[in-house]
Amino acid sequence: MAVLVCGGAGYIGSHTVKALLKRKEEVIVLDNFQQGHTEAVDDEALLYNGDLRDEAIVEEIFLNHKITSVIHFAANSLVAESVRNPLSYYDNNLYGTLCLVKAMNKYGVKQIVFSSTAAVYGDPVSTPILETDPTHPTNPYGETKLATEKMLKWCAAAYNMQYIILRYFNAAGADMGGEIGEDHNPETHLIPLVLQAALRKREKIMIYGDDYDTRDGTCIRDYIHVDDLASAHVVALEKLRRNRKSGTYNLGTEKGFSVKEVIDAACKVTGVNIVAEKAARRTGDPAVLIASSAKAKKELEWKPKYESLEEIVTSAWRWFQKYPEGYKSKSYVQ
Ligand code: UFG
Repeated sequence: MAVLVCGGAGYIGSHTVKALLKRKEEVIVLDNFQQGHTEAVDDEALLYNGDLRDEAIVEEIFLNHKITSVIHFAANSLVAESVRNPLSYYDNNLYGTLCLVKAMNKYGVKQIVFSSTAAVYGDPVSTPILETDPTHPTNPYGETKLATEKMLKWCAAAYNMQYIILRYFNAAGADMGGEIGEDHNPETHLIPLVLQAALRKREKIMIYGDDYDTRDGTCIRDYIHVDDLASAHVVALEKLRRNRKSGTYNLGTEKGFSVKEVIDAACKVTGVNIVAEKAARRTGDPAVLIASSAKAKKELEWKPKYESLEEIVTSAWRWFQKYPEGYKSKSYVQ
């Protein structure tokens, strides 16, 4: 009985693989290494280097292993890139999942946990955001995730499958053991960029807009620790196995922090006076994104462990201090 983790060498995927192995699950990882890192995958997992759209490798995996469920992270996830190149997002995110579900159906694998995003909501109508709120994505990334969610719902009905869709808010932080963490190229996310400024790898951090209708004028986000996201996947999988019931869940801490508050927390954690400069708003940024995670708490019996921003930033700082070049510096150390 094995779990196939697609995209298991990426940021959230690798933390989830670690959590699954801790639970003594047999884990098979498929990753095309567009964003993933070999060093991020624990040796106990069996690693395939390949793409979901490559029928031969997907067939090989389903033929060679007794896969009973799938956790699917493999996707492109940069908003700005998706606006520039929507077709590659539809191809990788939607068509890639189509290939996966086709193989699952062929081999009788019925259960999937799927990575979705707060981007499916677009500009929220109210805060905190509920799963039943309207979904109006404002970019192709969010559109492809929403289209994939809908495809999964229709497939579940037609082929007697079950899914759990997890809509993440802002994934942040690093493994508490300090051995895996965030390493994107290019990096666009606030916390790693602020910490790069603390490491003097960049001169300053740009604040994208300080004239929003928020307490200090900067955007507010719900930062959720990556280990808490990982534990949500583990409980979602267990729930699917037990109840065979589909569902969609937001994952956040239900607390919002502004860009300025994140920078202040990073100054405190690192002891560095990080230079920040005002810049124009980034197109498509909603002012406030805060999850209601009440449904996940109630139905999945999941609850985030790391709710303080300082704790989240501290874990990321530990990773960046130890491996300032990400996994590249990890390979020098070992
Ligand atoms: N920000 C800055 N300066 C930077 C980088 C970011 O001020 O150099 C701001 C952004 O404008 C935003 C906040 O910091 O207000 C957080 O930005 P991130 O890029 O870290 O995260 P986003 O909220 O843009 O993105 C997250 C997920 C996406 C998802 C999106 C949904 O990472 O996958 O939420 O809106 F699509």
